Amino acid sequence: MLVPILTLLLVTSAFSAVDVRSRIDCYPDPDPSSDACSARGCIWESTKNPFGTNIDNLPVTVKNNGKTLLVTIGGDDRYVPPVGLPMNPSTSSDSLTFKVTTVPSTNIFAFQVTRQSTGTNVWDTTIGGLLFADKYIQIATYLPSANVFGFGDHVHKQLMRNLTRYTTWPMFARDIPPDSGPDPSIQNLYGVHPFYIAMEADGNAHGVFFFNSNAQASFFSRRQNLYCEDEVTLGPAPHLVYRTIGGRLDMAFFPGPLPEQVVQQYLAHIGTPFLPAYWALGYQLSRWGYNSLDNMKAVISRVQAAGVPLDVPYADIDYMNAYKDFTEGDKWTGFPNYTDQLHQQGLHMIVIFDPAVEVDYDSFKRALQQNATFIEWPSADLVPHSIQDQYPMAKDTLVMLGNVWPERNTAFPDFLDPTNQTTQWWTNEFILFHQTLKFDGIWIDMNEPSNFETGTYSSVGSNLATAHLSCPISGAAGQLDNPPYATRAVREHLCSRTLCMLGKSARRTMNFFDTKSLYGWSESRATNAALRQMTGKRGAVISRSTFPSSGRYAGHWLGDNTARWDDLQTSVINVMDFNFFGIPYVGSDICGFMGISNEELCLRWHQMGAFHSFSRDHNMRDTPAQDPAVWPSVAAAAKMVLTFRYYYLPYLYSLHYASSRYGGTVVRPVFFEFPKDSTTQKLDYQFMWGSGMMIAPVVDKGVSSVHVYFPKATWYSLIPINYGVVFTPGYHDVHAATDSLTPVFLRGGYILPRQGANTTTTASRKNDLEVIIGVDPSGGSNGELYYDAGDDLVDDIESHKRHHWLFSFTYTSSSAVFSGLCEKCSDVDIPPLSIIEALGYPATPDFNSFILNGNKVNINVQLSSYSAITKRLFINTPKLIGLRTIASPF
Ligand code: GLC
Repeated sequence: MLVPILTLLLVTSAFSAVDVRSRIDCYPDPDPSSDACSARGCIWESTKNPFGTNIDNLPVTVKNNGKTLLVTIGGDDRYVPPVGLPMNPSTSSDSLTFKVTTVPSTNIFAFQVTRQSTGTNVWDTTIGGLLFADKYIQIATYLPSANVFGFGDHVHKQLMRNLTRYTTWPMFARDIPPDSGPDPSIQNLYGVHPFYIAMEADGNAHGVFFFNSNAQASFFSRRQNLYCEDEVTLGPAPHLVYRTIGGRLDMAFFPGPLPEQVVQQYLAHIGTPFLPAYWALGYQLSRWGYNSLDNMKAVISRVQAAGVPLDVPYADIDYMNAYKDFTEGDKWTGFPNYTDQLHQQGLHMIVIFDPAVEVDYDSFKRALQQNATFIEWPSADLVPHSIQDQYPMAKDTLVMLGNVWPERNTAFPDFLDPTNQTTQWWTNEFILFHQTLKFDGIWIDMNEPSNFETGTYSSVGSNLATAHLSCPISGAAGQLDNPPYATRAVREHLCSRTLCMLGKSARRTMNFFDTKSLYGWSESRATNAALRQMTGKRGAVISRSTFPSSGRYAGHWLGDNTARWDDLQTSVINVMDFNFFGIPYVGSDICGFMGISNEELCLRWHQMGAFHSFSRDHNMRDTPAQDPAVWPSVAAAAKMVLTFRYYYLPYLYSLHYASSRYGGTVVRPVFFEFPKDSTTQKLDYQFMWGSGMMIAPVVDKGVSSVHVYFPKATWYSLIPINYGVVFTPGYHDVHAATDSLTPVFLRGGYILPRQGANTTTTASRKNDLEVIIGVDPSGGSNGELYYDAGDDLVDDIESHKRHHWLFSFTYTSSSAVFSGLCEKCSDVDIPPLSIIEALGYPATPDFNSFILNGNKVNINVQLSSYSAITKRLFINTPKLIGLRTIASPF
């Protein structure tokens, strides 16, 4: 549907004539006061656009893409992020309808998006407040409920957004570490994710995505809005105000109605995540400040000696020569040999690279020779020649120089280069360096992009003295670095701690003002391509800065957290958020990055972090070591919980496969599985692996149990101390001593695949496969196993060589049947299935007449058992089922 061109009309009536329900905050900047608002002329007298002239005759287009409703306000002449979303159509049992209307008592354009099955308005812009100037765009809507989740990248202290007061969530990629302290200010962190999920009163879920890469903010209130922040009035409905300072309003509405379906529909739109290599699901150990290869070796050895499973050692920037990418420092002679040795032990190596490359050394020289591009100044008169001309290679170029880790100035590759020559140079550098050091995965950091100490100047000509980058903020040149409204993304200038907004990217066709938040996304895409060509294998890329669809190319760690209990807690929440954002390969720096960790915190963090897809201990230079071998109790706890993780890795890997193929989450909140149970929406620290496993980690100091909420289902404990015990719905205090396993539960009705655990994934993958069945007293159980070579390239997930088994289990009073259906069984090595365990098995089985897929199976009775008291059935018959050779259905 194409809505005819509309003229945007503005309220000009006096305050008293404007219905209180229709008022919009037009003083979004910090510290508003009545006088300041009045001075701006936007409080009581009018709703004129305070930051520019509204554009008239705005085109509005509306269309359906499958069940996704797309609404665009703004013309083709407006900037659109050059991200190339796949925008695959979505499916749903429900639909959303779009209706044009007006703000009450005016002829101002408004619209409603309504759920067809229930008539609920998921959006209703009759609240007014639509403004559209070149650098200030605003839209406001009533929300059907205050139960909103998502928007990033922020520290969220609760999973559900806190709408008890006016809250603004700025979005602009910045090098800001997460602050999880007692009362953190709300700041945007490294990435930008303008996507939220809302739960309607009846338990239906919908999602909304704004496709925009400019500095932007979302403003929520549970209450009715007023003009100024300091005036809060209770009102009948919650609302949202969304603002951006560029581009246009490109909105996608996803109907759900299940929360997991919302994420699937969103990922159909933005792209499903990459499948990490199997080994990348192993435990990872990093630190900044090993300072030498010898120190690194000593730490890896002691962790291995403690029997802690370990797959991926890391090298941070200290391995480089003077922090220059693609070089090795003096104290790292022997690093290539050591990496080869680790490979022989079945481990893999991930190494860090920063995007800012030093000028005037070989990599930079090759970049110029290979016609790669960098973020550039728009014109020669703006270039600070006193700095630039010191570098023979940069002299006479427009390359914008900054300062990051290297001692001398740095240049920032322009990964949005549409000619692909920059990606090709970047790839060539990796290939060249890999000839020496055979690393397997790539860690990309500082890609907001971060630049240390960016200053500003107000008159051209004054940008001379300092070696640091300085950006103009006045006159024609200053318009992008000093726009009429800079959003709450920054408290200073948009360029603070990054490059100047007037920089040019995409081979000078775009302004850095528009594309800055895409830098990490574009570097992830280029680095993923480089990794493929460099190794010819899958591996993994980890990126600090992300944008919608980054998950197609990279995973993410939550950045520079602090060794505090608050940070352990917020990690649980933020990992769920990143699963909403299509980046399920995510985790936090276990034990905390900044500050000094301690035994109890580090132990509990391992017990929690073992359940995050990206599971890595990492800390900062000049802080004490915090690898698990530092404390015997932490080593023991890490060994126990990581052994459990490795045992269940086939399940975790199968969940990643499902997310790559169909979209959706891997780690998900409990309410995703129980959306009609409103208590689950408030569970900040419990989470699920898929549908079948629930985890309730300890996140508080000094406790030895967890108060766990069990939604209505049958839950079997997998904790050794009360293995197989059923927890009934409601709250229970569950044993969680430091020497016990993290509280973890199997859900009745689900079958999980697993595999005997060893201390590396390479060794574990040689063991036999198993399944555990959570018997559902009221029905059958189902589960899936995805298994492939583990590190081969995935060109097309649909046709990728794999074993994909669909398991089911049913029983009646006279028989129990376990069967498997091979969805696709390619020529891929897969170990046999040897163990079938069932919890809640209702009756004593006759081991001599066990039927599997219609065939009588000879069970090894000595190795198998059943307890009528615990109702645990354990069938152990080595090489019971040759999954590889059995025909479908076997
Ligand atoms: C950044 C990263 C951190 C890394 C450090 C040195 O602060 O976020 O993980 O250790 O840089 O490379």
